[in-house]
Amino acid sequence: MTATTAHADPASADKACWDGIDLAALARRVGTPCQVYSASAIRTRIDTLQTSLHGLDAQVCYAAKANSNIAILRLMADAGLGADIVSGGELWRCLRAGIPAGRIAFSGVGKTADEIAGALDAGIARFNLESADELQLLQHVASARSVVAHASVRINPDVDAHTHAKISTGKSENKFGVGIDEAREWFAASPRHRHVQLDGLHVHIGSQMLSLDPIRLALRRVAGFWRELAAAGHTIHSIDVGGGLGVCYRAGHDHPIPINDYVGAIRDTLAGFDGRILLEPGRWLMAEAGALLTRVIRVKQGRQRRFLILDAAMNDLIRPSLYDAWHDIVPLVDDARPLQTYDVVGPVCETGDTFASGRELPECKAGDLVLIKATGAYGASMASTYNSRPLAAEVLLDRGRYAVVRKRQTFEDMVAGEQPADRWETP
Ligand code: LLP
Repeated sequence: MTATTAHADPASADKACWDGIDLAALARRVGTPCQVYSASAIRTRIDTLQTSLHGLDAQVCYAAKANSNIAILRLMADAGLGADIVSGGELWRCLRAGIPAGRIAFSGVGKTADEIAGALDAGIARFNLESADELQLLQHVASARSVVAHASVRINPDVDAHTHAKISTGKSENKFGVGIDEAREWFAASPRHRHVQLDGLHVHIGSQMLSLDPIRLALRRVAGFWRELAAAGHTIHSIDVGGGLGVCYRAGHDHPIPINDYVGAIRDTLAGFDGRILLEPGRWLMAEAGALLTRVIRVKQGRQRRFLILDAAMNDLIRPSLYDAWHDIVPLVDDARPLQTYDVVGPVCETGDTFASGRELPECKAGDLVLIKATGAYGASMASTYNSRPLAAEVLLDRGRYAVVRKRQTFEDMVAGEQPADRWETP
């Protein structure tokens, strides 16, 4: 095994070695497909962000949806991060992983009474409210428990995030948040909600953003509203700036916003705010710290196209099928091999099970290992067992050691909870 830096990029000089682990040896041990995450790379991201936030009263609440593996959540907890959650399931996972309830914020348009009750009982820090109905429901559930819930209004600033339509959330036609006019009414009526302390603002306009302009625009609108509220005598304890920072999926093509520029925009737009700033990054912390390790099953020469058929499929990584997302693909083979053009596909019975079309790669053969890069966020967390393909293993690498943090599902695991309809009941 060649020497490498602890958090070397998996496609750098020694592309078969990552965070001190020989990926070929790992593949033999745990099998493929498998998601590998570099703990060193995750920690580097966390440290970089924390350093950039220096001097601000800031709490990073990792967006658990990006990768909710218990080991990843534990790593975030150990680094002092909180969590942004969107379901009772995520609350449960975060608590189990050791994230203190007091560092958890609950977003999402469809919180149910049960989920709200569970979150109140756990003592989460705050709710990010997305509709008047939800505000009423929170008041109702908190009043029944004789507690006062802290809540923020999620502002929909009507800003185009300039990202994929399916992950844009800040336009007025999107289901998220409420307009400033409606939020103004909520604050005016807030004395009526004795069990909800409306003392925060929240905004999240989209994901995989590579331009700072929409972020600045959204933050300016929120800051303007905060100043107006402050002038009207409302105390705002926290402003949650959401997540959405983009990452590099395509080397040489995607240019992520430098973290200091992003934090600089927060400092500028929220200058004078003396409450707590919450951040909810998911992808930026995790995406590039993960890769999908997969093996070539065979190469098939079709009548028009050459297919590289991998043992990973859309059920393991749905981003290319769902968003036409680009992921760099790196065969762990000798670069001296001649280039070939492939459609890189999985075994699932859908034409949409395509990771890349017309991709130029070093020639591959059955049995070769291939890395699909930047899958640490929205990879495993969006996986399914479609085509009855058991969930892949997940492995955490850390400076020459590895830990299996999700065992590959067995067929038995896969059907757990299913049963033949041999017990009929009436409601
Ligand atoms: N906060 C809220 C309220 C969110 O809805 C999200 C993501 C985040 C934070 C974290 O955003 P991030 O920093 O990861 O961009 N499955 C899609 C991404 C969906 C993002 C949904 N919300 C994908 O694979 O691109």
